[in-house]
Amino acid sequence: MFRDSITDDYADKHEIVALCDSNPHRLGEAAKAVQRPGTNGVATYLAEDFDRLILEQKPDTIVVTTPDFLHADYIVRAFEAGCDVICEKPLTIDLARLKTIVDAQARTGRKVQVTFNYRYSPARTQIKELISSGAIGEVTAVDFRWHLDRVHGADYFRRWHRQKENSGGLLVHKSTHHFDLLNWWLGSLPTAVLASGRRAFYRPETAAALGLEGRGPRCHGCPVAAKCDFKLDLAADESLRNLYLEAEGADGYFRDLCVFDADIGIEDTMQAHIRYASGVTANYTLTAYSPWEGLEIKFQGTKGDITHRHVEVHGVFGGTRAHADADAVTTELHLAGQIPRLLDVPHASGHHGGADPVMLGYIFDPEGMTPDRYGRASDHVAGAWSILTGIAANASIDTGSLVDIKSMLRSRGIKLEH
Ligand SMILES: NC(=O)c1ccc[n+]([C@@H]2O[C@H](COP(=O)([O-])OP(=O)(O)OC[C@H]3O[C@@H](n4cnc5c(N)ncnc54)[C@H](O)[C@@H]3O)[C@@H](O)[C@H]2O)c1
Repeated sequence: MFRDSITDDYADKHEIVALCDSNPHRLGEAAKAVQRPGTNGVATYLAEDFDRLILEQKPDTIVVTTPDFLHADYIVRAFEAGCDVICEKPLTIDLARLKTIVDAQARTGRKVQVTFNYRYSPARTQIKELISSGAIGEVTAVDFRWHLDRVHGADYFRRWHRQKENSGGLLVHKSTHHFDLLNWWLGSLPTAVLASGRRAFYRPETAAALGLEGRGPRCHGCPVAAKCDFKLDLAADESLRNLYLEAEGADGYFRDLCVFDADIGIEDTMQAHIRYASGVTANYTLTAYSPWEGLEIKFQGTKGDITHRHVEVHGVFGGTRAHADADAVTTELHLAGQIPRLLDVPHASGHHGGADPVMLGYIFDPEGMTPDRYGRASDHVAGAWSILTGIAANASIDTGSLVDIKSMLRSRGIKLEH
């Protein structure tokens, strides 16, 4: 997304001066994709040569799109070298790494933007506008459910995301988007979290119930792949084959490990109760094996409520989206003493409900955009707050207790200031 945006849409403003990856095959493929007729292409560096990349190419900004557990190391090294950073979500996955980012930011004064694309979709911005305009009075309570379907949800159980030490689990890796939306919509920050979580679906018992005895360690070459609804056929898809199957030899990164493995460490069924500084309380549910994909959220307020529902994909049966329907987004405003009213929901084209092109515009051409009255850009502080709910939820799952976020930060000496 970032690569194509810079080379295709913002080539008059920015230039990719180098690419870096630990995998030489993917690095080579990325370099081919950047090459434009009549140019010499860009320099490429393996991960161990990242510091040399900075010395030789002198970039202004580093875009970090590695697996989550590596974000902090690259952010800190970029800051120390005098660069700003654009980082994929989540900012990082745990308190120790968060402290290194916050300390390096304070030391160097450099900036990191965390790319929360969900903030930029017109439907979500409309909710921000409704809440901030006081349409339902003071918000008091929220119910938020996010459903990952059996295609998208299953994907987190195939590769690096499946261990908490790589991704922080879905309460950090995925919910960073959702908790960021809550912080931004409510204009408040979380203070305490009580959570439960377990792996209820992606486990060997489910494979046995589906008649998948004799399954292999991965889809490629799996003896029961033909009857498995959850298989990912890397060889059948040109992009997956090129980016992953053909790159395996260099680093043994398998993109299609069995989703029913016993040694997966993340949860697929999570619930959290969150208290906010403003007094709002929120209940949150995330599942990763739903028959449909999307979200449902209700904001209760002193004057009425807002109910927002987005069905991104209908009808996922097994692991296929064969019966998928188009997007369906509704937002209903129900004021006390009136009948509920369905609002016109603005739409835009582009990935993530039209969010990505708007976000990329604000990142790569802020002067060309109208000033953002919704405050959608995120720095290390917003990035940190978006993961703190999930980090506290993980701690709460481990201990069974309510986790106080301020104490958690104090115990690690983390100070979150702009
Ligand atoms: N905002 C969104 O909606 C969204 C969507 C997808 C992914 N993401 C984020 O993008 C990031 C990447 O996800 P992905 O699905 O593309 O993962 P991926 O595994 O497909 O790609 C990661 C790349 O990083 C490379 N890499 C691994 N170790 C490295 C190292 N030490 N140094 C340099 N490069 C290294 C890998 O070789 C690979 O090319 C994650 O942080 C993820 O959360 C965000």
